[in-house]
This record gives sequence, C-alpha cells and structure tokens, in this order.
Amino acid sequence: MSTLVNGVPDFLYKSAAIDPQLFPVIQEEAYALFLKMYAMVKHDKRIFYYFEDFKNQFGDLAVHCPVLFGELRRLKIHTLFDRMLFVQNYYNREKPMPAHRDHPDEFNYDHFGLNIPVRGYQGSYTVFYDGDIDPDPLSWDKDAQGTQNIATALLGKPHTLREIDRVETTGPMWINTYALHAGRSDSENPRLILSLRFNSMQHIFDNGYFDEHLVAK
Ligand SMILES: [Fe+2]
Repeated sequence: MSTLVNGVPDFLYKSAAIDPQLFPVIQEEAYALFLKMYAMVKHDKRIFYYFEDFKNQFGDLAVHCPVLFGELRRLKIHTLFDRMLFVQNYYNREKPMPAHRDHPDEFNYDHFGLNIPVRGYQGSYTVFYDGDIDPDPLSWDKDAQGTQNIATALLGKPHTLREIDRVETTGPMWINTYALHAGRSDSENPRLILSLRFNSMQHIFDNGYFDEHLVAK
C-alpha cells in the first residue's frame, strides 16, 4: 500500500490503470492535440521542448482527448485534473535532459504526474536519482521552451547524482515528480510524453493511501 510522506508519494513510479486496449487510441488523440499545440508555439531545433497548456480549460482535454478523459472519469479523477504538459526531448549525448525536481508549488499541482507515452518512447526511460538539489537554480531557458515552468524546476547537483532506479517507457505510468528524475532515450527519435497533473492529492490519496484502483494489476 502506497502512502504520502510529507506530501510526497512513497513510490517512484507505478503503472497506471488505463485500459491497455484504449492506449493506441489515446496516443493518437494526444498526438493530434500535440500537433495542434506545436503549431501554435514558436520553436526551433533545441534539446527539448516543454509545452504546457497553461490554465488549461477543464474542457480541453475532454474535447480533444475524449477517450483519455473517459478513462479519467472511469477512475473518478477527471474532476481533479488540473493541467497537461507535453514534454518532447531529443537525444543528445552531450547535453541530456538534466535531472530535476518539478517545482509545482507556485502552480499548485501535486508531486506526481500521469505520463502517457505518445511517440518515440521505445528504448526510452524515466531515470530516478538520489542527490542534492543545486542551491543556485539554473534556468533551463536555453534548452527548453514553451513555458516558464521549466525555468523554475530545481536541478540536481551533477556530481552528487546517483541513479537509483529507472523504468522503461512502455505505457501510462504514475511518476513521482518530486524525486530527481529525467527522461533518457537511446533512440534518435524525439520522445514525446503527455503528462497530466492533478490538483488534489488528498482525494487521489484517499485517507493517505494511493488508491489501488489507479494502479494497473
Ligand atoms: Fe519533470
């Protein structure tokens, strides 16, 4: 049974109870939404992009991703949905995505996300690290764009980082975004993830426990 420790999940990741038969459809509707948002953002070829539907209208996901939204409804978490992020990163051996802790406090969402792999995720991983947070927060601005949120993520101090776990990106997954983490890919294909964020941990963590109906059996 999973719990919260000081408001943070006590797990690094768990497979999410999204119907596997619906997963291909969910990927297609997510990709169509990504293309629509991508077209709206000024971009150039950088290390990775990070798109956010800021102040996401609650209805957007229901309209554009009705199958995914239906799954959230089935899991009884659709009213807790807060916002979505598209994270697209390119393989770059010299300059990988930095290990970081998402910094949700000023955005008022919780310390976990529901990650939906959309494209280019074969051979990719979410890697978790132990280590210190850099006291001098660095901006990711040079390498990321699409949102100010990324600039406020807290980076791990590189020389203190030690990999503690990794999970292959194979399907919908609950991810602890408070733990230091980064996307890694051995493929040259851009890796595209849709990450959903929720705004009421105490409801999802019913009585302090991560509700087992949210986890794939
Ligand atoms: Fe993150």
